[in-house]
Amino acid sequence: MKKTLCILAAACLPLAAQSADADAAKALLKKNDCFKCHALDKKKDGPSYKEVAAKHKGEADAEQKLLTHMTTSPKVKVDGKEEEHKQIKGKDEEIQNLIKWILSL
Ligand code: HEC
Repeated sequence: MKKTLCILAAACLPLAAQSADADAAKALLKKNDCFKCHALDKKKDGPSYKEVAAKHKGEADAEQKLLTHMTTSPKVKVDGKEEEHKQIKGKDEEIQNLIKWILSL
């Protein structure tokens, strides 16, 4: 886990100056079936990505929180039942781009 985080931090540096690639972010969500429970701006089983961005606005560790959420299967409530949150699959830089994009919504 530690190693992945280091790689991500390194990949983050060159990306920091650019804005996120929205098409790539959406493609990654689609590939991972994340739209099953999340929409861009409507609540489904999970919060909309705009809601997520609003919730974490101004937090210095927002990127880290979303990364942890997407990669460690925390318990979430879906339809009143507790289940493990889906883990995202993708390259470090793809996930980093997705997180930047969500937080920019
Ligand atoms: C089975 C339904 C379901 C699927 C599929 C799902 N999520 Fe979620 N997700 C949730 C729920 C429910 C929450 C709310 C958790 C909470 O607030 O406690 C959530 C929360 C989140 C959050 C907010 C975390 C935070 O700290 O605010 C992010 C980001 C997120 N999901 C990303 C994803 C991504 C990326 C995928 C695809 C890999 C995905 N989700 C797939 C149900 C789902």
